[in-house]
Amino acid sequence: MSQPLVVDTVPGLRAQIREWRREGLSVAMVPTMGALHDGHISLVGAALATADRCVVSIFVNPAQFAPTEDLDKYPRQLARDLDRLTEAGAQLAFTPTVSEMYPAGFATKISVGGPSSGLESDFRPTFFEGVATVVAKLFLQALPDYAIFGEKDYQQLCVVRKLCRDLDLPVDIVGAPTVRDAHGLAMSSRNAYLDAAELDVARQLNVILRQTAAALAAGADENGVTGKATAALLEAGFDSVDYVAARESLTLTSWRRDGDGRLLAAAWLGRTRLIDNVEVSSFIP
Ligand code: PAF
Repeated sequence: MSQPLVVDTVPGLRAQIREWRREGLSVAMVPTMGALHDGHISLVGAALATADRCVVSIFVNPAQFAPTEDLDKYPRQLARDLDRLTEAGAQLAFTPTVSEMYPAGFATKISVGGPSSGLESDFRPTFFEGVATVVAKLFLQALPDYAIFGEKDYQQLCVVRKLCRDLDLPVDIVGAPTVRDAHGLAMSSRNAYLDAAELDVARQLNVILRQTAAALAAGADENGVTGKATAALLEAGFDSVDYVAARESLTLTSWRRDGDGRLLAAAWLGRTRLIDNVEVSSFIP
């Protein structure tokens, strides 16, 4: 097991990737903000199953945090992350500074329409602009053949696919299933903010979503069951619920009973905001 090569400049990243290209090797990228957990490690596994080399970017992207959000307290633990990447077998960690990614005078923003509207955007209006801008930069810096994104951030996955399609970015986007703990809680770097009592509550999120998705698949009224899910989350101990909503699974437009669906939710526990989503099977009467 050798530690991944660590580079923090765009020329350094490009030089190594050029070298791999000369050797005829394919490259998959896993964009992250660090604080790596088993979910990220599964993305590295998917990258290595897809391509010859895996590049993991570790960059806490200020552009996707609103001024009121947790940019300052977002966990940063590079040494531990590199240990995890060593075990996982990633070959390169790209760890740019903020000034490497956004040099003085940086003034470009990418706004993706379609799947970015609603859901997260209703509560974090500048989030996807920040994500799309940094992801486009990472793709243009590394020019990977593939990029792996977790389904945990389902709307983000749809937005990144749309970004690549609309801008003809030549990167194949691979969605990887959400990794969950033994109670079904989706792995997230923000779970580190939860104390033991909050963890118990957090674990109800996936339980309630699965029950709601099953009710939808069985023909229940959409507004009725999403309303019930919101009430059940509050009853379970969540402080507030931003949304529980069913959507068509590719475009995130309104859900149709006869098509593939996704049930998505965001809820607050104290100062921690959790998101999750599950598949909704089509309804066959
Ligand atoms: O999902 C994340 O960790 C981030 O939104 C991403 C894709 C790395 C962009 O900063």
